[in-house]
Amino acid sequence: MRIIIINGPNLNRLGKREPSIYGHQSFDDYFADLKDKYQQLELHYFQSNIEGELVDQLHSADEKFDGIILNAAAYTHTSVAIHDAIASISKPVLEVHISNIYKREEFRHKSLITSQCVGMISGLGLTGYQLGLEYFLNSKY
Ligand code: DQA
Repeated sequence: MRIIIINGPNLNRLGKREPSIYGHQSFDDYFADLKDKYQQLELHYFQSNIEGELVDQLHSADEKFDGIILNAAAYTHTSVAIHDAIASISKPVLEVHISNIYKREEFRHKSLITSQCVGMISGLGLTGYQLGLEYFLNSKY
């Protein structure tokens, strides 16, 4: 099974960025651990700070992958384009947030993309990505 993790803006700063909220581990380190643990999966990773690149990546992921784990980061709360990109593809997209968006500022309480996703994990730290992989491994996809 081929799975891609797509991370949005500022998530390239994980490990350095607001560690009290997002932790001390870089995503590259975490991703290396995930690849080790899930050798039965073909795992890929893409990160961009640019909304249109995330849209393009979602489109091309539809051809290449069986499932998509998406942390659209700040675009979660603003992007009709990412909502529409998810709606335009047929592969399942699982939304992940490292922090609990409902425990934070009110502007983070609304996700424009959840309605297009198979589900949403929020507040479990980086473990949310691993749980997303478990979902795909255990689901009919
Ligand atoms: C985030 C939550 C968003 O509100 C924020 O803009 C992010 C990261 C998370 O993973 O907790 O950049 O998606």
